[in-house]
Parts: sequence; C-alpha cells; structure tokens
Amino acid sequence: MPTTLHGPDLPEPSEDARRHSDRLSEAIRKEIDSAGGWIGFARFMDLALYAPAQGYYVAGAAKIGAEGDFVTAPEISPLFGATLARQIAEILGRSGGEVLELGAGSGVLATDVLRELRNLDSLPQRYLILDISPQLARRQQLTIEQRLPGLATRIEWPTALPEDFEGVVIANEVLDALPVHLIAWRQDGLFERGVSWENGLVWSERPLPPGALRDAAEATGVEAEYISEISLAAPALVRTLSDVLRKGALLLIDYGFGRREYYHPQRCQGTLMSHYRHRAHDDPFFLPGLQDLTAHVDFTAIAEAGIDAGLKVLGYATQAQFLINSGITQLLEQHPADATLSRFTLTAGVQRLLSPAEMGELFKVIALGRGIDGPLIGFSSGDKSRLL
Ligand SMILES: C[S@@+](CC[C@H](N)C(=O)[O-])C[C@H]1O[C@@H](n2cnc3c(N)ncnc32)[C@H](O)[C@@H]1O
Repeated sequence: MPTTLHGPDLPEPSEDARRHSDRLSEAIRKEIDSAGGWIGFARFMDLALYAPAQGYYVAGAAKIGAEGDFVTAPEISPLFGATLARQIAEILGRSGGEVLELGAGSGVLATDVLRELRNLDSLPQRYLILDISPQLARRQQLTIEQRLPGLATRIEWPTALPEDFEGVVIANEVLDALPVHLIAWRQDGLFERGVSWENGLVWSERPLPPGALRDAAEATGVEAEYISEISLAAPALVRTLSDVLRKGALLLIDYGFGRREYYHPQRCQGTLMSHYRHRAHDDPFFLPGLQDLTAHVDFTAIAEAGIDAGLKVLGYATQAQFLINSGITQLLEQHPADATLSRFTLTAGVQRLLSPAEMGELFKVIALGRGIDGPLIGFSSGDKSRLL
C-alpha cells in the first residue's frame, strides 16, 4: 500500500537533487527485481542511507544543521559536548586510553569535547573518529582545522575499528540511524514489512520465517494489530564495540526508551520517522537519498547486548538527568557569552537540551563498561530500572 503523506508542504528539491534521488530509486528498483520482487525494509533503509556514492549519509546533501534536514544536540549548544567531556574525563581517569567517536556528523561534538578535555587537563593522546560517510569525515576534518587548529594533530580517522581499545567510545544519534526491520503483528501471524515496486516504491508484507528476527519480535510480547521496528544492527554494533573494548566504557546517546515503553500498546504505529528539511513526516519512500530515516532505540536491547558481551551497565539516565548530574548548569554560568553566542542563545540552547518537552526526557544516555569501578558522575540520579 503506497503512502501519500508527503503532501504539498514538503519543499521541492533542486533539479540536480531530484535526478540524484531518481538514480538511487532506480538502483533500489533493480535490487528489488533481482531479489524476486521484494526486499525487507532494513535493506531498503540501508540502501537509502548508505548505498555507496548515492545514499543519504554518503552523498552530497548537507544533512545536519540549518542548511540540512535536522539538528542534533551538539549543533544546538557547545555545552552538550563540554558537559559530556566531564563524564569522559572521569572515565579516562580510571581507564586511561583514548577517545573513539562513532558517527561524528559535522565534527562539532569532537571540537567541543576536546576543548573541554583540554580545560580539564584530561586530553587523550589520540581522538579517533570512525564514520561510515567519507563525505562527513571530510567535513569533520574542516570543522576541526577551523575551530581547533592546535589539536588537529591528535585526531585520526581510521577506516576500521581498532583491534583493541582502551578508553571511552561515544556515539551521539548513531544507533537511531542504523537500518531497522519492520514487523507487522497481524491477527493471522507475524509478517515482515518490506518494499516492492509498482510504478514506484510500495509496501508489501511477507510471513516472518523462524530465525533471530522472529525470536526478537516474539520477545516483545506485542499483540496484533501492531507495527513496529526491530533493530538487529544496533545490538550487533554494541557487541562489535564490546569485542574491542579492553577497559573503559561506551557512552551511547540517542532517543528511545526501555523495551516496555518502546512496545507500549499505544505506540502501535512504531517510531520510524523521515526527516526532510527540518520537517518530520512518515513516508520513508519520499525522495530516497534526500531525506534521513530513523527509528527510536530500544535501550533494553542495547543493555542486553552489552551484558551478553561481558559489559556492565554503569548507568542509564535521561539526557536531562545526565547533563545536570555532569554539571551543565555550572558550565552555563561559567561560559563566556560573545558576539556569536549571546547569553540568551546559550541559555535557550541548554533549555532545549534539558526540557522534557524537547530533548530532555526522550533522549537517553547509557554507559556500558568493562574494568572500571565506582559510580559515574553522569548517572548519580539515573534510573536503570527503566531498562526493564
Ligand atoms: C544522525 S548523524 C549524528 C551525527 C553526530 N553524532 C551528531 O550528534 O551531530 C549519524 C552519524 O552516524 C554516522 N554513521 C551511521 N552509521 C554508522 C556506522 N555504522 N558506523 C559509523 N558511523 C555511522 C553517519 O555518517 C553520521 O555521521
């Protein structure tokens, strides 16, 4: 069933951008044809976001910031990264080692974190950035050269995870960008939602065969009629990271909930969302390659993946709790206002990060660690029971 919700209020792309999207749609159509007429939604999302040279994250669109499709916490306030740096410094003090940032976007978070780590006298020897997008990696290099020329030599862009890592891994809004499977719980059984081609991309469903995806869908306890996402990629990434983490912690920040809230009966249409030019809508087939696709994160699945891989849940908190615990209000008082960032803008930015109506409640922070003991400042008022 095709969706037509994009409506007239979404801005028209340029001719070039439309041609780009048409080329990607054609590549997706060919893949659907060669797969026998159907691909699962996770494969579609993977192609739409990451198809080499064509996907949303790897091709030319601005993506993050005013010119792009969405803003993230580090783009809203430099105090997000500065506050996160305080938690990073505490962990580095116990683990030693380096910082690895996954999916660094525009590079702004790296500059804010490094600047504060320098203030705290906690600079690591190296700050590694691993991003799937070569285009964003170039943008990160430019941002860092312009904003922090003195520290640029400490930053490296490896093309793969190191085999062994000690220190802190951070990832802000990366898990939500990983491809998700879409499941339909129907009166007559479980189905995987996928994509076919009938004069364009259309939804179609197939019975869900036995396997990991079906096991995960059954474990949610959801009852028909219901549509939602299952991410196999996000827990897999946590397992991969935990395989290389010898000592230290993963700090993962994203929007989402524990499993009970995620698969709440009232959330029966799931959390899949499309972002195009700062408008959120629910048609993932609109202009493939020109819009972001995301789903909320099931933090229970993230915690379970970490625990299965031998990590400990060191903390789980809302973004507001985490930032307040880590000292964002003191940082706000100390931060000098200047011509580019007035006191009003600084205060309004922090308000957006903390407000329950904006990012404060919906966004969560989870810390998964190995070989480090004791409470962490960011989680002194967190609530791990919300993971159950
Ligand atoms: C929504 S953006 C968030 C960017 C940035 N962390 C921020 O807060 O502004 C997602 C980022 O994750 C990157 N990414 C997506 N999948 C990835 C993966 N498997 N490994 C590393 N980076 C990935 C994208 O290229 C992009 O930089």
